[in-house]
Amino acid sequence: MPRINYEKKIAENGNLPEHVAIIMDGNGRWASRRGQPRTSGHNAGVNTVKTIVKAAARIGIKILTLYTFSIENWKRPKSEVSHIMRLLYEKTRSEVDELNSNNIRLTAMGKIDGLSVSRRRALKQAMEATKKNTGMVLNLALNYGGRTEILEAVKKIVRDIKRGLVNPRKLDEDMFAKYLYTNGMPDPDLLIRTSGERRLSNFLLWQTSYTELYVTDVLWPDFGESDFFKAVLDYQTRNRRFGEVTAS
Ligand code: FPP
Repeated sequence: MPRINYEKKIAENGNLPEHVAIIMDGNGRWASRRGQPRTSGHNAGVNTVKTIVKAAARIGIKILTLYTFSIENWKRPKSEVSHIMRLLYEKTRSEVDELNSNNIRLTAMGKIDGLSVSRRRALKQAMEATKKNTGMVLNLALNYGGRTEILEAVKKIVRDIKRGLVNPRKLDEDMFAKYLYTNGMPDPDLLIRTSGERRLSNFLLWQTSYTELYVTDVLWPDFGESDFFKAVLDYQTRNRRFGEVTAS
């Protein structure tokens, strides 16, 4: 099906996911299948990021959250970690114009304090330079861990209870969610994972309770616009019940 038909079909279906999250997996495998170092897989992965960000913005996705670097990723070889960090630094500097011309606002979530000063500064500048954009939000999960996020929220709530700012008897799911990095964002409607693995890998543990999951064997560097559109079309066929019973 040519690209235009995918987009037309998605628009006709109408029930577009508002928030899409992606576990971008398979860069290493893509590279090793080519006899190349893992770093070249990450370089190729960046090109996919650009393609998918533009495609998502074009079809009207409101928030795109990308699992860019997990807390566990620090355990990788030092050279690989520095390469990913360098890519991140370079891209947050070089892609600002592109984000602005697509009306995209950049945000980040995770233990941002754990990044180096220069990377944090580059990120902050890119977020500042795009903050007035009214189109899609591109939300990068950086130095992110789902359990850490929940634990940090609990610590902040305990602090606020001690300060008398929160009544523990009034603590409910909505209030808890306000203490998460995703405060103010709707939960992801659709979570895509590339390269076949069927797990959450500590990503958005609280927020994915009712998220529709889509796993594809396609490796992230090979994941193209049409693969993304197929995932959205698949989402549009799902019957979301949120634990309730519906006629059909
Ligand atoms: C997963 O592949 C990919 C990552 C851990 C890093 C993702 C980072 C990028 C695509 C580059 C930077 C992004 C931006 C937004 C500029 P893997 O290495 O786990 O692959 P494998 O499972 O095959 O080993």
